[in-house]
Amino acid sequence: MNFKRLGKTEIKISEIGQGTWNYRDGVEPLRLGVSLGATHIDTAEVYGTEGIVGKAIEGIRDNVFLATKVWTDNFRFDDVLKACEGSLRRLGVKYVDLYMLHWPSRSIPIKETMHAMEELVKRGKIKHIGVSNFSVEELKEARDSLSSQDIVSNQVKYSLDQREIEDDLIPYCKKEGITVVAYSPLKGGALRQRKDLIGELSSKYGRTRAQVILNYLTSEENVVAIPKADNPDHVRENCGASGWRLSRDDVKLIREKFR
Ligand SMILES: NC(=O)c1ccc[n+]([C@@H]2O[C@H](COP(=O)([O-])OP(=O)(O)OC[C@H]3O[C@@H](n4cnc5c(N)ncnc54)[C@H](OP(=O)(O)O)[C@@H]3O)[C@@H](O)[C@H]2O)c1
Repeated sequence: MNFKRLGKTEIKISEIGQGTWNYRDGVEPLRLGVSLGATHIDTAEVYGTEGIVGKAIEGIRDNVFLATKVWTDNFRFDDVLKACEGSLRRLGVKYVDLYMLHWPSRSIPIKETMHAMEELVKRGKIKHIGVSNFSVEELKEARDSLSSQDIVSNQVKYSLDQREIEDDLIPYCKKEGITVVAYSPLKGGALRQRKDLIGELSSKYGRTRAQVILNYLTSEENVVAIPKADNPDHVRENCGASGWRLSRDDVKLIREKFR
């Protein structure tokens, strides 16, 4: 498993992590993933999976990079603090490594929410502040709203079928030292097709389609991915998407030719 720098920090996070939205299984698939190096686990207060994640990391908490999110209804100062306490309780931990704003808010000023996030850092409840589903403009505004911290990551939808962020968000984040966390990386039709460029590369490298896709999505130095897998075979397969690299030319080929 490759590890990549989180934002501009000295922390390294696994290139392939584990998503838990719609995760239905017990502790085993998550623990298997951690044992294979997928130590970045992603959840959110609205997923209903913080409890199972908490159980899965019992006894191995220090090996895990734990990330959760506050929902937009809780973006007022006091509500952020309360929401975080709720997440910590359900997860059974004293702090989370990354706490994210789940979506931008249309009604609550970002300054107020970010003030609460910085307060949580001061209190030792969260180590780092991230956002999710933010455009470049929203990200700039979020960064301007912080006084003592910087945004370390932006979690956004990124799959072979949805690659708009390659034009603006990924380059901006790369320049600014912000990690892009790719969610829903295996969604869309790309996993199911057969005779196409991904199929050819899969034969060339002796890797599965999912592995070629995840390897492509994480080919930039500041991008990691968090596929969700209940199936242990999928967990193994996804972890095997890291630790090797598509050549630069093949990355370019996918970028230019895969539509
Ligand atoms: N911030 C946000 O707004 C946001 C939104 C959506 C998702 N997310 C995060 O991103 C994570 C991943 O996104 P997602 O769950 O939407 O989509 P995803 O991970 O791209 O797709 C999950 C689906 O792919 C299957 N799968 C996993 N590995 C596979 C493999 N190697 N081969 C074939 N199928 C495979 C899973 O099946 P099995 O489960 O049966 O193994 C599941 O049905 C979420 O769990 C969540 O943590 C964040």
